[in-house]
Amino acid sequence: MKILVVGGGGREHAICWKLAQSEKVTKLYCAPGNAGIADVAECVNIKAEDIDGICEFAVKEGIDMAVIGPEVPLAMGITDTLSEKGIRVFGPNKKCAQLEASKAFTKSFLMRHDIPTAKYTEYTDKQALIDAIGIYGYPMVLKADGLAAGKGVVLAQNAEEAAAAIEEMMGARVFGDAGDKVVVEECLHGVEASMLCFVDENTIVPMEPAQDYKRVFDNDEGPNTGGMGSYSPSLVFDEALSKRVMDEILLPTLKGFQEDGLDFKGVLFVGLMISDEGPKVIEFNNRFGDPETQSVLMRLDTDLAEIFDAVIDNRLAEIDIKWKEERAVCVGMASGGYPGSYEKGKVITGLGDVDDDIVVFHAGTAFNEKGEVVTNGGRVLGVTATGATHDEARAKAFANVAKISFEGAHYRNDIGIVRKN
Ligand code: AMP
Ligand code: GLY
Repeated sequence: MKILVVGGGGREHAICWKLAQSEKVTKLYCAPGNAGIADVAECVNIKAEDIDGICEFAVKEGIDMAVIGPEVPLAMGITDTLSEKGIRVFGPNKKCAQLEASKAFTKSFLMRHDIPTAKYTEYTDKQALIDAIGIYGYPMVLKADGLAAGKGVVLAQNAEEAAAAIEEMMGARVFGDAGDKVVVEECLHGVEASMLCFVDENTIVPMEPAQDYKRVFDNDEGPNTGGMGSYSPSLVFDEALSKRVMDEILLPTLKGFQEDGLDFKGVLFVGLMISDEGPKVIEFNNRFGDPETQSVLMRLDTDLAEIFDAVIDNRLAEIDIKWKEERAVCVGMASGGYPGSYEKGKVITGLGDVDDDIVVFHAGTAFNEKGEVVTNGGRVLGVTATGATHDEARAKAFANVAKISFEGAHYRNDIGIVRKN
């Protein structure tokens, strides 16, 4: 099988790394890829949002399967366009991609199908939203409806912060059209977990649960990022909770898809809050999570190409998906200034010094003209370790982070410690 992976971050590195181990894969391309992905796939210089360019390449190269990493091309309808050209695609079509591209779409889906989630109201009128400040108390959860690179959610601690967030979203329009509608939610409390699930039209199969760390500083302080680290399996899950998530959330979701004519095929990312009242859905994404994927795929013991193939053909139920017992921890290293503005092009040293069993997934890297690996994004690396215990994996990850450096590098020291909000 000739496979094209679309995207160029840490998630796509993890997907390529796992696909490269498959005997079924004869050739692996990644568009655009990055300096780390270049170790396991041939990178082609086409942006993930350049749908015409990707289609043209896929047809020309006779690609057997395209795997779409990021949400933006999915929301733009890359799956529909590639499918029209006869290319098999792992990733939901445009209709289903609304589950991530519109928070209001997902909230109404969850309510309609009685799936536990926070109470909400949606607003398109700025004054109506201002009048609603504090409706569910504080923190007031405000979400730009559309895609905002993981930064469109504000937890305002008081009326002043809420007013400022409303001004940003609907006045200054910092998220553009994505903030023309704003969803306000009741604030949930508990421990968060990410459940990535393989989904076809008949079946939903959860992967092992994971946890990510969204805020930039230790103890969950500072602004939200795309994710500063992850670990898997989640330490808050036991068999009883897994069963509740399956019965109260995943199966009703699949049934809802069927009832609503949502022919979802790909990965559904279920963001969960494990509250005192039980698990509730915080959000859906329609793709692998980043950086959860880096921890989760380290533990997958089944051929990923085979799973993708089965999902496309609605044969997921036939696949026995296995997981390794070992635990995984991924510590993200970010550029100085991230998630605010940051410089690129800093030379990264020490990549060759990490232990043999460590995988350094590249998120934002490139080669400079001297052939050195340099920083090329806010999230730069995900140093990922496995171990017989969670603590061992955690210690190994941090011991190896210490071997890598670039100017301005920063990371969280508490990745792997359970946090309760
Ligand atoms: P989202 O993009 O919807 O996942 O939101 C980003 C982050 O904001 C989540 O991972 C949570 O930490 C937080 N968050 C979102 N919605 C809520 C909520 N209703 N209650 C508490 N925290 C929330
Ligand atoms: N780690 C959160 C996400 O991928 O959206």
